Amino acid sequence: MNEKRSNFTGKIGFVLAAAGSAVGLGNIWRFPYLAAKYGGGIFLLVYLVLAVTLGFALMTAEIAIGRKTGLSAIGAFKKLNKKYAFVGLLAAVVPAIILPYYSVIGGWVTKYLFAFVSGNGIEAAADGYFGAFISSTWEPIGWFMMFIGLTALVVLFGVEKGIEKVSKFMMPVLVVLTVAIAAYSVYLDGADGNFEGLKYYLIPDFSHFSATTVLAAMGQLFYSMSLAMGIMITYGSYMKKDVNLESSVTNIEIFDTGIAFFAGLMIIPAVFAVSGSDADVAKGPTLMFAVLPNVFKSMGTVGQFVGAAFFILVLFAALTSSISLMETVVSIISDKFNLNRKKSCLVVFIGAVLVGLPSTLGYGPWAGVTIIGMQFLDFFDFISNNVLMPIVAFFTCVFVGFVIKPKTVIEEVKISSNFRREKLFVFVIKYAAPVCIVLILISSVLDALSNVIPALKMFSI
Ligand code: PFF
Repeated sequence: MNEKRSNFTGKIGFVLAAAGSAVGLGNIWRFPYLAAKYGGGIFLLVYLVLAVTLGFALMTAEIAIGRKTGLSAIGAFKKLNKKYAFVGLLAAVVPAIILPYYSVIGGWVTKYLFAFVSGNGIEAAADGYFGAFISSTWEPIGWFMMFIGLTALVVLFGVEKGIEKVSKFMMPVLVVLTVAIAAYSVYLDGADGNFEGLKYYLIPDFSHFSATTVLAAMGQLFYSMSLAMGIMITYGSYMKKDVNLESSVTNIEIFDTGIAFFAGLMIIPAVFAVSGSDADVAKGPTLMFAVLPNVFKSMGTVGQFVGAAFFILVLFAALTSSISLMETVVSIISDKFNLNRKKSCLVVFIGAVLVGLPSTLGYGPWAGVTIIGMQFLDFFDFISNNVLMPIVAFFTCVFVGFVIKPKTVIEEVKISSNFRREKLFVFVIKYAAPVCIVLILISSVLDALSNVIPALKMFSI
């Protein structure tokens, strides 16, 4: 990429743009279902600890690498050390895996938006509604195509700026609405006086702790903050030298984690209130869609409007993220294969549709087909979040800790401000992170494989 890099005007511009990529379905759809699945409070605790250590160190490193080199991931690693160019390449694969199935979920959001806008939102609360929807063949494919088509059009015509402008207004509204719905869910949960869901979400139960919990939280951290996939390096390359790097990282982290926290508070207590038990708690990727319509239904007529407003805001958050995912893949393809923007956009669109199809069908007619015990969507999610991203993160830590040395990042941070958490940064990036990542990665891959090879079970922590 040799074109002149335009800079973000100031800190607010940078933080908002990075937050636009970071805040998306990861916060609103993925975080709550993982928290529900992996033991509630314990997952939340592990996530928060990882966010202020690993998340902070990795985001600082990536933004600094980007700002120092002025290049996106592939070029940046290559420029700093030729031998490590493969890390940039590996990072570039991640968005290509995420984009297709991200768009499948984006399609589900679009479907629910239409249901609420056309006055059928309450129907969506009926038992079996979601199941009937995803197990049909053509409808989910249609919504998936609509979502990815919309994303491709925006990328093709280069009108991201327009979407960004709208979403800068939408994002704060989304925050307010999420907090309000969360308060209402907690109120529903407390109707019987014992706040079962709230307790499940907030009070850690250490008996639920395992290596898989840590890996799931770690994968979610990378996903949610757009780390270990080159995105923050690219954003860093647009950052001006006088913008305070450390406090920008803190702001993005607070923003992203705050939204995820309230999304969990909106969904988990409602699971208990609506179904009266924790039977639904492990529902997986479908949780948000099964639970929220019930919350809106219990609001009466107003629920129809609240639901419509909520899904349109989520759709925008999802679009800003899918656009930045597709942008990344398109620019890599056009750089690598010397294609113009139009052609590479078409290639990425077709590729993403083809790869996305098994993910939609996997919840429907292909439900019987599994890879290492997982449906397609879950499998792509697992490979990117629980395997590739930890690998990229590991090499990034080794690269910064021992190849270019932490001082390279520290000097870059210090161009714009003091580095208050310098010692924490060095300790995490050199020792804590790489050791933990390796242990957890091995244990959880063995755990996943033990679905197929039971003898491996004995090796997992
Ligand atoms: N961080 C986004 C989310 O939480 O939804 C997902 C994402 C968007 C990842 C854009 C990567 C990216 F380039």
